[in-house]
Amino acid sequence: MDVALKIWRYNPQSGERELKRYEVDAPEWACLLDVLDIIKDRVDGTLAYRKSCRMMICGSCGMRMDGRSIVGCKERM
Ligand code: FES
Repeated sequence: MDVALKIWRYNPQSGERELKRYEVDAPEWACLLDVLDIIKDRVDGTLAYRKSCRMMICGSCGMRMDGRSIVGCKERM
């Protein structure tokens, strides 16, 4: 499936932030954390985020999506 995400990125040189759009091909079973891994591996290695258990236990991948607080490894795409 084609997935498009807009992610706030911070530029430490300028101190500015920008909303950057990423489009990737992801498997049907992918969760948000899987898509972030695909973006980091294939498109932009500078993307940084936290993760640990990948089983909805630790809360390390907690983030904001569409104005909601979510757990990235639980959020289905
Ligand atoms: S990585 Fe532990 S809750 Fe998502």
